[in-house]
Amino acid sequence: MSDLHIDRLFPDPASDLPLDEAFADLDLPSSGAGRPYVAINMVTSVDGRAQVAGTAEGLGSRVDRRVMRLLRAGFDAVASGAGTLRATGFWPGVPPELAERRRAAGRSAQPLSLVIAGSTPVDLERWHGDEGGRMLFVGTANPQAPMAGVELLRAPTDDPEPHWLLAQVAERGIESVLLEGGPTVNAAFLAAGALDEIFWTVGARLVGSDALPMIAALPGGSPWADHPRRGSLVSVHRNDDELFLRYRFG
Ligand SMILES: NC(=O)c1ccc[n+]([C@@H]2O[C@H](COP(=O)([O-])OP(=O)(O)OC[C@H]3O[C@@H](n4cnc5c(N)ncnc54)[C@H](OP(=O)(O)O)[C@@H]3O)[C@@H](O)[C@H]2O)c1
Repeated sequence: MSDLHIDRLFPDPASDLPLDEAFADLDLPSSGAGRPYVAINMVTSVDGRAQVAGTAEGLGSRVDRRVMRLLRAGFDAVASGAGTLRATGFWPGVPPELAERRRAAGRSAQPLSLVIAGSTPVDLERWHGDEGGRMLFVGTANPQAPMAGVELLRAPTDDPEPHWLLAQVAERGIESVLLEGGPTVNAAFLAAGALDEIFWTVGARLVGSDALPMIAALPGGSPWADHPRRGSLVSVHRNDDELFLRYRFG
């Protein structure tokens, strides 16, 4: 249990809530699309940048890092793109008290860990934690060798197509996937119409660079470029100068 607190601004405003309670029940609906429910969790600066000097370090606070773990506690699987794994490493685990929360909710103690690569092999040294199981998705031409403790799935396409990937994890009983970036893989899920929610931390920072945003430009152009897809606001929390926004795109 953390000693952190947070204000809820919407709905039902309330001050100084214990953070762990504020994010205890995510109340995820079904995707309604015959696939696992998919949410992105990302932190950006106020000007919308998701990278500082090549990583996300320095954008979010200690509260943001705790929120990240609280969100993981509410999902069956946590996923990362290979670019993020290469840039920062990937450990999608939760600490013991949140593992207990997962067990109490009928989940495995740790989320299933998913890495999504295209044509380049990934370095197992940068992928931490195997208690919840690991699945590596690669494109058809990726020369990735099998790795102990990792289920390797080779897509029939150059990059793993999100619906194909989600069908593979659904076969293993996964009903919800938390996508922790990066922006390129986020864009692939948006383009495929396989994105239901966004948990967005706005760090009180300005970057002013051309670093990647939360979702990279969609390859081949966006169908929403002229008619943006509309979402609905689920909740807003605030800690100090940092905002935690949750939008649903049903
Ligand atoms: N602010 C945040 O919350 C946050 C969160 C996560 C990451 N980040 C930052 O974002 C950066 C990494 O993001 P990124 O966009 O470069 O990498 P990424 O989205 O993590 O991964 C991109 C890679 O995924 C593979 N891939 C799988 N399916 C794909 C598809 N359908 N289309 C395209 N690529 C596909 C490709 O791997 P191959 O190279 O094998 O072809 C591609 O290079 C890092 O700086 C990281 O620190 C920030």
